[in-house]
Amino acid sequence: MSAFPGWRGRRLRRTPALRALVRETRLTPERLILPLFVTEGEGVRTPVGSMPGVWRTSVDEALVDAREAAELGVGGVILFGIPERKDAEGTGAWDDQGAVQRAVRAIKDAATELAVLTDVCLCEYTDHGHCGVLRDGAVDNDPTLDLLARTATSHARAGADLVAPSDMMDGRVGAIREALDHEGFEQVGILSYAAKYASAFYGPFREAADSRPAFGDRSGYQMDPANQDEALREVWADIEEGADVVMVKPALSQLDVIQRVKRETGWPLAAYHVSGEYAAILAAAERGWLDGERAMREALVSIARAGADIVITYWAREFARVRS
Ligand code: PBG
Repeated sequence: MSAFPGWRGRRLRRTPALRALVRETRLTPERLILPLFVTEGEGVRTPVGSMPGVWRTSVDEALVDAREAAELGVGGVILFGIPERKDAEGTGAWDDQGAVQRAVRAIKDAATELAVLTDVCLCEYTDHGHCGVLRDGAVDNDPTLDLLARTATSHARAGADLVAPSDMMDGRVGAIREALDHEGFEQVGILSYAAKYASAFYGPFREAADSRPAFGDRSGYQMDPANQDEALREVWADIEEGADVVMVKPALSQLDVIQRVKRETGWPLAAYHVSGEYAAILAAAERGWLDGERAMREALVSIARAGADIVITYWAREFARVRS
């Protein structure tokens, strides 16, 4: 009876009600995190050309977006900063009065139901666009750790719930954990971009965050897309150093990695549906080549099905609005 014609898969697909009864994955807005790009000034809302629906905003406008996300039931926001001035070390990253730090304080005050995350990296703050300090034309790992730790503690002082290092330096999770604990922030968690690949799909983000490397690329510190075992080593290293949540990034081209990390670690897992994945679908939808709303749902639910507990997506609000 378990083979045709006794078993017929189509019986359970006949109506929306039957399909809903046997649906295996339910993605709800509280599992989504909305990225926000914050900059100096007031009343600023500049569209990002390659990411329709995404803006660079000043803190007051970021608060408007965060409030809207909260009203729609979105779980949290992750903040990226675009400073007015950049330098070789990225000193703007740990400025307690920086746009990210002010945005954290404003959002924690006015949208208390949201989890507030901050991206910890130097690439938006360095004049060369790399994720750490340079020595002989390459990113110097160990001196960068202290700068990342300073950035993370500055975000913690502002009130961040989770700090999210995205730099891919070795040892940064441990360095950040130690610095947070030392300053009394033992309750502030770390979501580490643990398996972050050197991806072509970050292109539009670098326009949004103005963080394109001035020379070379990031393959000296981000992972080779051909590797899967290495992702597990990266994830275990971050867990051992104190990561509370680990992340795989990008998401759609790394579904196998998401599934394996979840199965092998059982750790809380996030996946970042990145700028290029978002832009590619929207560009095709704009041309009428596919149905953008259906593609959005399919993309996001697939990431959850693979094993992600948390999905970072520029569609967080749109998904919350249209989900059935
Ligand atoms: C910063 C950072 C990047 C992204 C998140 N944090 C860009 C990069 O590594 O170049 C990409 C996010 C996206 O593409 O949506 N290091």
